[in-house]
Formats: sequence, structure tokens, C-alpha cells
Amino acid sequence: MQFLTTSYHYHLLQDWERLTAFYEAITTQARDTVFDLGAGSGILSYFAVPYSKIIYSIELNSKSAAYMDFNLKNCENITIINSDAREVDFPSKADLIICEMLDTALIDEEQVPVINTVLKHLDEQGEIIPSGVIKTAELVYLKNPQISYEDLINSKVSPHEVKSALVTYKILSFYHKIKEDFKQDIIFRINQSGKVNGVKLTMFTLLNSNLICGPTPMFNPPLFIPIDELELKKNDTVKINLEYTMGGGLDTIKTRIKEIF
Ligand SMILES: C[S@@+](CC[C@H](N)C(=O)[O-])C[C@H]1O[C@@H](n2cnc3c(N)ncnc32)[C@H](O)[C@@H]1O
Repeated sequence: MQFLTTSYHYHLLQDWERLTAFYEAITTQARDTVFDLGAGSGILSYFAVPYSKIIYSIELNSKSAAYMDFNLKNCENITIINSDAREVDFPSKADLIICEMLDTALIDEEQVPVINTVLKHLDEQGEIIPSGVIKTAELVYLKNPQISYEDLINSKVSPHEVKSALVTYKILSFYHKIKEDFKQDIIFRINQSGKVNGVKLTMFTLLNSNLICGPTPMFNPPLFIPIDELELKKNDTVKINLEYTMGGGLDTIKTRIKEIF
């Protein structure tokens, strides 16, 4: 089947690792009533078609919603709604909510505000794909210190060197309301002496309790955040305060070096 898409959604459809993980989770978990929030081209709704009675596919962008309408015109159990998912008056509870509005650390897209709002429409026995995320951080030296995502397609040219052990600083479950404003001290252990001028955030997505998906070129590539430059030795420990608003955009990111010991 050929999908009509925007160029952004075209690239999402080329990412086979992302699609395979979602396909496996959706075809295992989809049943009666499904909500697909931020449905884009409609591909994730399409995966649920043979397993569901009714699928509500919600998309904010009108051009994407029109393309989805065309792509899914033969699927009788799909209702397309061109709206902000937070404003939809759903006629029944969901057995499955699919919400793929992810970005690294959930800062730039509306995954958290949308899930927080729609959670009240999930049946008590209902499920969410993805079910949550694991957020990790490392200290790095950036050759070009600016807020940017790692280019995983041209990975031969690595613009950074990792200087600390990986720290898991937060595990989030979408089954509970999440505080959108995030602020936390993170302690890093340096394992390679030299200059440090950035934090690298990497996120792992829990599709369900059996399926985890790491970053791929179009699915949450790691995010680099510059910090003031430090000269550090192996085994130094650095405490950095990291702050951002989930769904608030990259401009909400703040970092502060608090202590070196
Ligand atoms: C990362 S894309 C994923 C598209 C599709 N789910 C897929 O996996 O191919 C996220 C989509 O969510 C839509 N979106 C963002 N905020 C939204 C909101 N508040 N309500 C509904 N859709 C939204 C965007 O327009 C975009 O199409």
C-alpha cells in the first residue's frame, strides 16, 4: 500500500526500526476501541485496523489529516478527526491509546500534555503504546557546542566525545499524570580526562513491558545541550541541575553546574 504524506511523515515511514517496533506492539495489543493521537500519515492506525472495532485517528495538522483521509479511505472502522487531541470529546473510553508525539526527553513535542489530558478517557483495563520512556544523560565534549540533535544517518562523523558514564535520571510511565515542569540535579562520574562542554540526552522508549526501542535516525536521536566548559580529570564527580518543560519547547532548557568534587 502506498501512503500520501508530507515530507516529514515520509521520512518517518522510511524508519523501519521505529515502524517494526510499533507494528509488533500494536498488532499484539489492539482491541475494540483505539485512539491514535497525533496520527500523522495514519500508519499506526492502519496497523490496528484488523484488530479493532473502531479507531479514532486524531491529527492537529490539516494537510496531514487530509492525506490520512486519503490513505485510510477504505478502512471502514477508522474515524479521522482534524483537531488538537486535547480538545476532542471522545464518545467512549479507549481500550488502547497510541500516542507517538515523541521527541528526545519529551521537551519539544506535546506527548506529555496530550497524554495527561486524554488519560481520563482510558478504560480501567486499557493500555497505552508507548507505555513510557527511560531518560539518560552523559557529559560530552562537543566540537560544535550548540543545542542540536545527533545525526545518526551520517554517524561516521561524530561531533562529540563521551566523557562520563551513562546516568539514568528519570523513568516515566504514561499511565500516570506527569508533572510537565522538570527540574533535577544529575550526578556524573567522569571516566575520561579532558574538556567537557555539553550534556547528551538519550531516550529509550518502552513500547510495552517486553519491547524497548532505542534512538533511530527519525525516532528521538540524542540531544546535545551546551554547558560552560570545564577541564576535568578521570573519577571527578560533577553535579549539574537540568531543567525543562515537557511540551514547552527547546527554549525551556536550562542547565547549571552546581558542584565538582
Ligand atoms: C512524530 S509525528 C508521528 C506521526 C504518526 N503517529 C507516525 O507515527 O507516523 C507526531 C504527529 O502528532 C501531531 N500532533 C502534534 N501535536 C498534536 C496535538 N496536540 N493533537 C493532535 N496531533 C498533534 C503532529 O502534527 C504530527 O503529525
